[in-house]
Amino acid sequence: TSTTLGLDLGGTKIAAAVVSRGEILSRTQLPTPRTGYEAVLGALETAARELLAEHPEVERVGLGSPGPLDIAAGRVIFAPNIPGMEQAPVARDLSARLGLPVVLENDANAAGYAEHLYGAAQALESSIYVTISTGIGGGVFVGERVIRGVHGVAGEVGHMTLLPGGPLCGCGQHGCWEALAAGRAVARDASHAYGFALTTAQVFDRARAGERLALRVVENAAYYTGLALANLLKAFEPDGFVIGGGMAQAGAFYLDKVQAAADRFTEGFPSVKLFPAALGTDAGVIGAASVAAQQLSQSTPLA
Ligand code: BGC
Ligand code: NA
Ligand code: ZN
Repeated sequence: TSTTLGLDLGGTKIAAAVVSRGEILSRTQLPTPRTGYEAVLGALETAARELLAEHPEVERVGLGSPGPLDIAAGRVIFAPNIPGMEQAPVARDLSARLGLPVVLENDANAAGYAEHLYGAAQALESSIYVTISTGIGGGVFVGERVIRGVHGVAGEVGHMTLLPGGPLCGCGQHGCWEALAAGRAVARDASHAYGFALTTAQVFDRARAGERLALRVVENAAYYTGLALANLLKAFEPDGFVIGGGMAQAGAFYLDKVQAAADRFTEGFPSVKLFPAALGTDAGVIGAASVAAQQLSQSTPLA
């Protein structure tokens, strides 16, 4: 059967779906536990079991996870935005609990693969998928091949340093793109500016309504994202950049600001071509499922 289960482990939520050839047949969602690996493993199992009960024909599970990961060992090295995931052997443990093979892939690589197969990158020969959510991740694709690097760190674009000595990132470094421009950074900066706690969604609502403080925070995040994309253009010059993740859901209001910033840093160079993720926030589960389905015919997905 080509029907597989896709799990997308995010910094905020775990999304799960039964997927057949890019179509979601059934789905569920849980908040990501913040109390350590055992709780995360339990939540992944709960989400999976709920869907497997409805779809007993599923024989494979794909798991998209933030990393860095040790793909060959099926292990998370650490997850910048999920506490307690250091060296977690999640593929092996989840597989043992479910009695099914579990294929681990970086969440952004998986989502980018879905966009390549079924979404915005279908017509692009080369593409860089960027997810801007709680964290920032990337997948660099040439055709349907993802660039991994020696240890699988290639594509971890969210941890490129854009401001040495800048805000602390979940990875332990300072001034990463993610620490400057991801959802968590927007909420942090706005909460600081306003003097009370705001969620990323609330900041965007206030910015749209024209509030100066919120607008400045959104523009600052978009500025760093534009800068990062301009740098990536010069490193790879892909046919296009597909932008997904929760923050991309803010649409043109946000992406126009990103484009303007990218344009400033690419004067005299080809411009950054942005494509909103066609699969939206479903790219993660569809991609994880597709990576697992792909493994039926190939020993290493996206190798
Ligand atoms: C992780 C990436 C992941 C991204 C989005 C980053 O913090 O290092 O592996 O793709 O968040 O979840
Ligand atoms: Na990646
Ligand atoms: Zn970082």
